[in-house]
Amino acid sequence: MEARKTQLLRILVVILLQHHLQISLILVDATSNVHIVYMGEKKYEDPVAITKSHHRFLSTVLGSKEAAKHSILYSYKHGFSGFAARLTKTQAEKIAELPGVVQVIPNGILKLHTTRSWEFMGLHYYQSSKNLSTESNMGEGTIIGIIDTGVWPESESFSDKGMGQAPVPPHWKGICQKGEKFNSSNCNRKLIGARWFIKGIMDMINASTNTDEYFSPRDAVGHGTHTASTAAGYFVEKANYRGLAAGLARGGAPLAHLAIYKACWDIGCTDADVLKAFDKAIHDGVDVLSVSIGNEIPLFSYIDQRDSIAIGSFHAIAKGITVVSSAGNDGPVAQTIVNTAPWIITVGATTIDRAFPTAITLGNHQVLWGQSIDIGKVSHGFTGLTYSERIAFDPDSANDCRQGSLNATLAAGKIILCFSRPDTQDIQSAAISVTQAGGVGLIYAQFHTDGLDSCNLIHCIKVNYEVGTQILSYIRRARSPIAKLSSPETVIGDLVSPRVASFSSRGPNSMSPAVLKPDIVAPGVDILSAYPPIGSKDIQGYALLSGTSMSCPHVAGIAALIKSLHRDWSPAAIRSALVTTGWLVACFSNRNRRNEHI
Ligand SMILES: *[C@@H]1O[C@H](CO)[C@@H](O)[C@H](O)[C@H]1NC(C)=O
Ligand SMILES: *[C@@H]1O[C@H](CO)[C@@H](O)[C@H](O)[C@H]1NC(C)=O
Ligand SMILES: *[C@@H]1O[C@H](CO)[C@@H](O)[C@H](O)[C@H]1NC(C)=O
Ligand SMILES: *[C@@H]1O[C@H](CO)[C@@H](O)[C@H](O)[C@H]1NC(C)=O
Repeated sequence: MEARKTQLLRILVVILLQHHLQISLILVDATSNVHIVYMGEKKYEDPVAITKSHHRFLSTVLGSKEAAKHSILYSYKHGFSGFAARLTKTQAEKIAELPGVVQVIPNGILKLHTTRSWEFMGLHYYQSSKNLSTESNMGEGTIIGIIDTGVWPESESFSDKGMGQAPVPPHWKGICQKGEKFNSSNCNRKLIGARWFIKGIMDMINASTNTDEYFSPRDAVGHGTHTASTAAGYFVEKANYRGLAAGLARGGAPLAHLAIYKACWDIGCTDADVLKAFDKAIHDGVDVLSVSIGNEIPLFSYIDQRDSIAIGSFHAIAKGITVVSSAGNDGPVAQTIVNTAPWIITVGATTIDRAFPTAITLGNHQVLWGQSIDIGKVSHGFTGLTYSERIAFDPDSANDCRQGSLNATLAAGKIILCFSRPDTQDIQSAAISVTQAGGVGLIYAQFHTDGLDSCNLIHCIKVNYEVGTQILSYIRRARSPIAKLSSPETVIGDLVSPRVASFSSRGPNSMSPAVLKPDIVAPGVDILSAYPPIGSKDIQGYALLSGTSMSCPHVAGIAALIKSLHRDWSPAAIRSALVTTGWLVACFSNRNRRNEHI
């Protein structure tokens, strides 16, 4: 984000002195920005002919073929017709009026649908497809395409050891595109293809300023590796996060093949790159597309919204590809759902029946419970405990522990209790603040506690407001309050679950309330899946993330199982099968078993 270029629009200020002193501003949009010129269905089968037609078309506006070729970033020619090109505002407006043009879309940034929680810990939970996966041979013969941040090909989840001798499906026409630290030897019979798309984001942001990024399908973010392995990772025994929640990790369709389309970078994704990813995925012959990204919350119609995912998925579905997408993480507020085009399978997130309870023992021996995924940062024994307001420079603004608010003289060596504001869930920011002030632990009270974060240097425990208030009243009563923070445990089966995650974006669909969205919900809180060796050194290839980004590939995996059983089923049939048979999978505990429709 920091690398974002300053606004490209150059403003020329011309001061005109007339009869009276009068100042006028003349805006000259001499600078070009990337626009997507969307032209609907393709007119020719031959992609070369389509590209040529784009050059011809654009040269009528720009004056020459050379100028047209120079301006075009991408020609969309497999799934649909259109191109991304650098255009001035005037040129874009002119093109929008020309026959054959459906819409001209300024290249915008889309976001990944995780919460801010990285380095989560937990267990990959996958009960609902147990029977389906046995009957469907675990997705064998199908190809799941992932439009995301790329892949870490060395992850055990992408090993093809268990893929048998089955050849790559004959309908596969993709490639393994090489780049920085990535070449064809990184693909195998599990990971059959990988491509990367960077022109759209490069035009906006200087991606080369991020030294951690790879100019290749290799994943420097983690999101894409995580979602790909949730959809179709092979079985990996004893997967765990820092020793917790060890178990068998597997994707929804462990025998499905994966095709990776890296269109997203640490700073986000652009419409131009995402549309090219759809175009190529349609060409390559994927069966299912998993797209855990989204636009801002829509306000108008599908068309006015300039929604590149709606456009790309429309053409994918017309070619028989099932498209699954995430609902967004802007809940629990109503009308926050995105990816609401009726042809997309839109997925919300639920909790699973697993928790990481962590005991907080107060000086009066009262034991209260929160949740945490911080292992190995526990200070044994009792430590001083205080409330942020008592140690803040400005008591009015400090109960959420925002950065810079705490007096280090008073915070040093203490466990600090902070309350989130109702509208934010920024435990990471509070953790940084506490760490900088020399605190040794953070108890963070929130309204909505779904999704856990690891705090890098200190022990963080999330509690609900009720527990937070109990701790606060102890602090107020005690002469010198102390507390002991324990290590988290992994507990299965004794929660009311699944429950729609607080962050999962809610309907109704603001554009067409009659089109019910989301279509389905799936696990998306504290999901363990493959992760690149980036960030903390003690992560052994698996991490916990939360978000509708994590629930989306669960459904993509199931869609591949169905496709494997019924090769001739259309995306509409697969969607129908999913939404009419989706059922609440109660947790193992009989006490909490309920039969509710999901
Ligand atoms: C799934 O399979 C198990 C074991 O084969 C069986 O007991 C169970 O009834 C099946 N469930 C459904 C919904 O078919
Ligand atoms: C591909 O990468 C591997 C490891 O980085 C390297 O050993 C190999 O020579 C490369 N192969 C090609 C064809 O470039
Ligand atoms: C991008 O960043 C690199 C490295 O900082 C710099 O050399 C280059 O000039 C930048 N390019 C643009 C277009 O800003
Ligand atoms: C921080 O707290 C100490 C100890 O109470 C106090 O002396 C100091 O003035 C405080 N610092 C600020 C900037 O308020």
